[in-house]
Amino acid sequence: MCGIVGYVGEKNAQDFLVSGLKRLEYRGYDSAGVVTFGDKGVTLVKAKGKIGDLEAKLAGLKRGDKVGIGHTRWATHGEPSEVNAHPHHVGNIYLVHNGIIENYKELKNALSGYEFKSETDSEVLAALIDSFYQGGKYPLANAVVQALKLIQGTYGIAVMSELNPSEIVVARAGSPLVIGVGHGETLIASDASALLGHTKQAIYLNDGEIATVTKNSVEIKTLNAEPVSAKVEEIETNLAAIQKDGYEHFLLKEIMEQPRSLEETLRGRVDLEEGMVRLGGPGLSETELRKIKHLVIVGCGTAYNAGLLASYYIEQFTPEVTVEVVIASEYRYRQAYIPKDSVALIVSQSGETADTLACLREIKKQGVRTVGIVNAIGSTIAREVDGGTYVHVGPEISVASTKAFTSQVVAMVMFGLTIAQAKGVRSGVLKPYIKEIAKLPGEIKKVLDECRELVKGVAEKYKDYDHAVYLGRDTAYPAAMEGALKLKEISYIDANAYAFGELKHGPLALIDDRFFELALLPEGELYEKAVSNVQEVLARGGHVITVTNKTEFDLPVESVVKITTSVEALVPILLNLVAQLFAYYVAVEKGLDVDQPRNLAKSVTVE
Ligand code: M6R
Repeated sequence: MCGIVGYVGEKNAQDFLVSGLKRLEYRGYDSAGVVTFGDKGVTLVKAKGKIGDLEAKLAGLKRGDKVGIGHTRWATHGEPSEVNAHPHHVGNIYLVHNGIIENYKELKNALSGYEFKSETDSEVLAALIDSFYQGGKYPLANAVVQALKLIQGTYGIAVMSELNPSEIVVARAGSPLVIGVGHGETLIASDASALLGHTKQAIYLNDGEIATVTKNSVEIKTLNAEPVSAKVEEIETNLAAIQKDGYEHFLLKEIMEQPRSLEETLRGRVDLEEGMVRLGGPGLSETELRKIKHLVIVGCGTAYNAGLLASYYIEQFTPEVTVEVVIASEYRYRQAYIPKDSVALIVSQSGETADTLACLREIKKQGVRTVGIVNAIGSTIAREVDGGTYVHVGPEISVASTKAFTSQVVAMVMFGLTIAQAKGVRSGVLKPYIKEIAKLPGEIKKVLDECRELVKGVAEKYKDYDHAVYLGRDTAYPAAMEGALKLKEISYIDANAYAFGELKHGPLALIDDRFFELALLPEGELYEKAVSNVQEVLARGGHVITVTNKTEFDLPVESVVKITTSVEALVPILLNLVAQLFAYYVAVEKGLDVDQPRNLAKSVTVE
């Protein structure tokens, strides 16, 4: 979603602001802007569209200004337009804002003497700060605090005043902000990736904190004026991890790097000799693990699908534990009772998803132990859970989540195995899963290498359809859900997933020439039943693609992608790789913006 950058130092601020905004492009946005202060006054430039449009407007305006803030906006209040783009300028105040000010209408009505140019909630916040600033009568940070005390909603903000051009005031509540500490320069970003190449030293601001930064200092306080001693942390990501590495798109790079990213998830956690998995992060003792009777898995989108797939496995080897998988945006408002001896798994790639974070906070209020399954190190969810397992897949830049899904599933399965081990489930039951997990990176590599060209050819045939039905049963059903999500978000083909057994209860009515059906058919106990379901679709003129590991597959379907693998239980994870490649190549064939699909953002930090 929206991105924030800021710079104060000795170098050309515009260079960092523009390059920083480019790094944040992957989060999704529809307009951008920067403001810098210098000898020649204020330079405020905004543009609808991409950073390239902003750069074109900035050409010729390079003034060597050494302080400034910038923003990419993902429209919430008001259409994507130049006037709605940030920075907002009101009186002496320039402001960029991520988040949503819920009570902006009341505040707007109460603010007299201001003419608002935009439809945004953010401009109201700028005016509110200006009203407390009173033309520089009070320190900027004080005015910001006064304003924030009246705000309901979420924010990450960076504020400047031309009356004090050597400082930037930043604050956060629910929207991340990182302060990069350099030599004679201080940088600000809503995502640490924008800081790479400039500094590796970062201060992650907490909710309810406000910081005044100059080129040589960072002073942090709470909104109640209590001083906070800043903890400087090392940014773990490196520049190579956020580059395309020769691939045409980040999405393809991220699909293809899954053997390695999964190895990182498994590193030091699987002991094949002992037939054990060891997860230190959740911080639960053997006694606590033994007591667990119920798991709640919370996530959105792909993270939810990963939780659903993991839940099928966890139920297979921890018979005394019930597993409930919930959509965060729904769960946060339900009056759900969480039984005693529960643990909640909070699943999020970004660690910043607003709905998931809200659930985490609600669940904690009930005294339930929370465990994060998170990728982004130092993210808000990672910091607020009681314990957690990082999936360690490295930065995921493409909006469509792929490598995170695979590792989230495996990390949750490992957590389930940890519970089962503590409960004394026979090793004969657990070892087959552990062995499969250990060989999964190699099997993933084999499938990706063998299928990539084949899937590309298949995808070309289906690019012109408007609708798709994804089908699977048992563990292949959540995999089908994930496949359908991938197709719809990057190819804009309306794709929905159904459990095979549900076909006759409604979806079968859909089958006609406008639809194709993608069936995930893992070999196993329910294979023959799923084959019968495919036959029912074929009998009604369906255009069926099957993805299977069954060697003797002879149904008269339109297209088949066969994978060869020695993995059994975890096959749906491999079938999903084919669905990822399929969605990718369909979107490429359609000439779409694969990495930044329309209307979407990578990290959904607003409700
Ligand atoms: O960062 P999170 O894992 O919390 O994000 C959750 C969803 O927004 C995310 O998985 C989304 O569904 C992806 N774009 C799907 O590819």
